[in-house]
Amino acid sequence: MSLLALFDGMPALTDVPSHPWPHHDQAERDVLLEVLESSSWYNGTKVKEFEESFAAMQDAKYGVACTGGTVALEAACRAAGVGVGDEVITSAYTFIGTCSAILKTGAAIRFVDIDPETNNLDIDQIEDTITSHTKAVMPVHYGGLACDIDRLQAIADKHELVILEDACHSWGAKYKDRGLGSWGLASGFSFQQSKNMTCGDGGIALTNNEAVADAIGCAINQGRSRYDKADPRLRWGSNHRMTEFSAAILLVQLSRMPEHTEIREQNAAMLTRTLSQIPGITPCTRLADATVVSWHVYGARYHEDEWDGLPRDVFRMAIASEGLRMEPGYPEPVYRHGVFQQDWANSEDIRPFPWAGEDWVQDYRALNLPKVERYCKERLGVRQAALLGDEGAMAQACGAIEKVWEQRGELLDAWRAGKIEGWDEEQVKRHKEKGKTQEALTR
Ligand SMILES: Cc1ncc(COP(=O)(O)O)c(C=O)c1O
Repeated sequence: MSLLALFDGMPALTDVPSHPWPHHDQAERDVLLEVLESSSWYNGTKVKEFEESFAAMQDAKYGVACTGGTVALEAACRAAGVGVGDEVITSAYTFIGTCSAILKTGAAIRFVDIDPETNNLDIDQIEDTITSHTKAVMPVHYGGLACDIDRLQAIADKHELVILEDACHSWGAKYKDRGLGSWGLASGFSFQQSKNMTCGDGGIALTNNEAVADAIGCAINQGRSRYDKADPRLRWGSNHRMTEFSAAILLVQLSRMPEHTEIREQNAAMLTRTLSQIPGITPCTRLADATVVSWHVYGARYHEDEWDGLPRDVFRMAIASEGLRMEPGYPEPVYRHGVFQQDWANSEDIRPFPWAGEDWVQDYRALNLPKVERYCKERLGVRQAALLGDEGAMAQACGAIEKVWEQRGELLDAWRAGKIEGWDEEQVKRHKEKGKTQEALTR
């Protein structure tokens, strides 16, 4: 009889408390009612209090709350003077929101390959990527793992570039004990529903520079200046203001961050200890200076050769049957997104990008950065909500990985014999019903 839950065995994850996401309790209900009855649904005290509290958590002087991470990053770009004719360097492994923020300013993107060990942009390749049009670099602290900020800063200083941090996964995360998002000229965070703290959709931009904060405020509040410091040419913008309802929820969510971050850190550490014994999966490297990691996603790489050729998706199916969902991440580097695959230079009816046809712009359609291409095929991730269980739950999750590793021979034989045909959600569901599994893992 097989031990694997994919066949006859019992799932490794049993009796695990569920962690439905988003997390909320009476505290959110209370503050929502308080705002409802206050007749102050916008431009009130909650947004201001949230801006100050969140900026303080990340060690930044100014926070400007808005409707999303993409908006925060776009406003940060604009406040840094990024626009038509400029280029911003960013990582090829990121969400399209990073790119949209840059593109909306009229600037072009120059993608840099990643370091697969860290899942962040490869600092060693940045200098070769810089051109006379490069104005900024936007590192993405992917999953809440800090980039090597010291090395990045040295390159930025040498080439007079500004750093704009995509800190959309970095709530509570630190580098050298100082909050991510407070290192560059400005940064953006996301509070969209999947995030470690959320109000459904929301964002904040942080900076230590009053004129930049003012310009960001103008960008999200129809040009209204807060501090009277913004360059007059930047005193225009759209309406991307956060409401009092969102800020009220975020203040409650913020109060849970220290405890939640500590739990995720503990669980991530256990996962790392387990994976250090399993040659088939390598966790992302955490820099020694990444003093706090938010673990929006716990990232790792699957080495098919160590599994004697067992495909990653067959492993994922087996581990999901045990009750642990391990996500594949983005199927392709972000430069394969449709927006980068168009012939914009010859587009006659739609012409959104001023850089289209310019010879200095990276040829996105020809781009093939080897490390990120491979990384997308190897990536495995455990989402943040699955890292909120207690020690026992995490021990079971680790046991699930150990079990599948130990039973890999049987899994491989079954796959080679054609007994496993690929993702069969129904089959996985049936096996999950054998034991109580973490709801959050199955989202
Ligand atoms: C790395 C990264 N950057 C930017 C964003 C954009 O944030 P939002 O969805 O709040 O606009 C996200 C959000 O998912 C993200 O994961």
